[in-house]
Amino acid sequence: MLTDSIKEKLFNTALIAAQSSGKYIHEKLNTTLKIDYKGRANMVTQVDRNSEKIITDLIKENFPEHQILAEETTPVNNESLFKWIIDPLDGTTNFIHGFPYFAVSIALEYNDEIIMGVVLDPERNELFSAIKERGAYMNKKPIHVSSIKNLSASFLSTGFPYELNEYFYKNIELFRAFFEKSQDIRRVGSAAIDLCYVACGRFEGFWEFDLNPWDVAAGALIVTEAGGKMSDFSGRDFSIYEKQVLATNSLIEKEMLEVLFI
Ligand code: IPD
Ligand code: CA
Ligand code: CA
Repeated sequence: MLTDSIKEKLFNTALIAAQSSGKYIHEKLNTTLKIDYKGRANMVTQVDRNSEKIITDLIKENFPEHQILAEETTPVNNESLFKWIIDPLDGTTNFIHGFPYFAVSIALEYNDEIIMGVVLDPERNELFSAIKERGAYMNKKPIHVSSIKNLSASFLSTGFPYELNEYFYKNIELFRAFFEKSQDIRRVGSAAIDLCYVACGRFEGFWEFDLNPWDVAAGALIVTEAGGKMSDFSGRDFSIYEKQVLATNSLIEKEMLEVLFI
């Protein structure tokens, strides 16, 4: 059983970690960066790595026994029921080009369930957060998904993988299908922000293939706590460890699934 005071300490650690790394990332925007390539277009900078160190150092200091799954370093695996899931900079390509849409994403899994999530957009100072069964917030104000009921009136978002793989080509087809049926689509370049924008009603829906747990763990909880729905492309239960991510305001889920089933 997690007491309120333990939850508070966990949540405060996530908040402080996100704020410290967000401040650091903001200071490094539009500075000279050393870029390494993980793939054709998949880049990583010392800012990604340092941001991750800021976050993981703080977690290790407060909770040395917890597991950690973070994008840029080897996972810390042990018997702990707690696992921190971290994307230290979601939207690296945007960051490298000075396009100010990127975020820090920190989630906490307990007993195989995500129980808290924090996503910070340091350029707009928007801090999205959720604790399981306690609602979702942006800068301490409750947020809720939009009430638009039809796909034809919906504003959607998606993302594409770095590699020109089967998911890329499938998503090009889906992009076309959704474009024909919705009001418009954005490709923001940060899955964590995409999910938070569904949660606060800026988008009605977001879909993407082939994301990693750190891209979606915090954002998915923020969506469901804001009254939205997460699933795979067949409408089955969502898992951060699977390859299909559909987030909606719940009202347009059925119509989006009809397109995704094709
Ligand atoms: C990426 C972003 C992007 C999504 C990619 C992710 P990164 O994360 O979330 O929106 O389309 O699939 O890999 O590499 O910037 O942390
Ligand atoms: Ca990411
Ligand atoms: Ca990242």
